[in-house]
Amino acid sequence: MREMASDRTQVGIVGAGPAGLVLAKLLHLEGIESVVLEARDREYVQHRVRAGVLEQGTVDLLREMGVGERLDREGIEHHGIELRFDGRGHRIPMTDLTGRSITIYGQQEVVKDLIEARLADGGELLFEVGDVTLHGIDGDEPSIRFEHDARDRELRCDVIAGCDGFHGVCRDAVPPGVLTYHEREYPYAWFGILAEVAPSTEELIYTYHDNGFALHSLRSPELSRLYLQVDPGDSVDNWTDDGIWDELQLRMTRDDGWTLNRGPIIEKGITPMRSFVAEPMQYGRLFLAGDAVHIVPPTGAKGLNLAVHDVHVLAGALAKWFRTGDDGGLQGYSATCLWRVWRVQHFSWWMTSMLHRLPEPRDPFDAQLQRAQLEYVCSSEAAAAGLAENYVGFRH
Ligand code: APR
Ligand code: PHB
Repeated sequence: MREMASDRTQVGIVGAGPAGLVLAKLLHLEGIESVVLEARDREYVQHRVRAGVLEQGTVDLLREMGVGERLDREGIEHHGIELRFDGRGHRIPMTDLTGRSITIYGQQEVVKDLIEARLADGGELLFEVGDVTLHGIDGDEPSIRFEHDARDRELRCDVIAGCDGFHGVCRDAVPPGVLTYHEREYPYAWFGILAEVAPSTEELIYTYHDNGFALHSLRSPELSRLYLQVDPGDSVDNWTDDGIWDELQLRMTRDDGWTLNRGPIIEKGITPMRSFVAEPMQYGRLFLAGDAVHIVPPTGAKGLNLAVHDVHVLAGALAKWFRTGDDGGLQGYSATCLWRVWRVQHFSWWMTSMLHRLPEPRDPFDAQLQRAQLEYVCSSEAAAAGLAENYVGFRH
């Protein structure tokens, strides 16, 4: 048997996505030591193209944490979105309605900034760890065993934060029967592309069309991010680049002759859509956060923001516990987070249901409900304010 090297820290964090990295930084600011364990290599996590919309509260928090410098320089602040259907665009003036805004800044840029900050802080962050298993989470000194640099290691902790995303191992470390799972799969998927071309719009466009939903987003003045609703069984190989642009143009047609800029497509991928919640978000000394405990369909642009909110709550609760021994915040962690988790679940489901082409055979009643809802949010200030309030995000 190989010898197992054993170390100790206060908080063992599994996963270096936005949840794990924000948590590590917040704990560092509170003087709490942690070790972050990541299965992938640094290049991979810094280049994985993911979400791109930051709520006002997420931006404010990143700034307070001292990692907002590049975000302030390169992030693009938006004050509205467009809902487009029947050849017409309808602007939802989010800032006028809520006083708040969103910022376009890629998730991988947030991850890059946080990794840099972590290393500058001298914090431990191990990439390419393997065989991660959790032990003793129902006791006072849980531990994480893993393999790194061809060595078996053990990390003993006061608590473990499971921030390892939907396909991680932490959720499954909870004994059977403890967690309740809520899940919904949608008969839709998104075909996303990243293209080297100036965005054809200043603000995001969410389009409802007979052929299916389409979304125009962006990453920078030179990079456009666009999505098409496709069947979950579809493959990127079924589409030529011209075919993708033609379909985007067709779905996003506007009566005033609006046209889409085309350019080289540098990234393509199809993502299934699901809603998922496991509750409670805690068992013993294991606290689950982010995609490890909840997934939302991307239509509301909420996944990243929700992950950040979880760990903000968790960091506050841990700081109180380490400082004073008061575990009230930790006891309430799950309940505190779940209010927002379900609010965001509802909003993401609602946006998804309103904007996607229904599966065949299309129920004409359901189709009329979609239209009635779209017309309502585009004509009533009260209804638009509800959408805007959810879209810019609730205060932390
Ligand atoms: N051991 C260590 N790390 C792991 C393991 C494991 N067994 N399994 C997964 N990971 C890593 C993944 O490689 C990933 O880097 O955990 C990280 C989880 O990060 P995310 O999936 O980005 O999840 P999270 O931090 O909760 O952020 C949620 O990500 O998927 C998007 O839309 C979602 O924007 C939201 C955000
Ligand atoms: C994105 O830019 O990737 C994006 C924007 C809005 C969404 C989902 C994704 O609702």
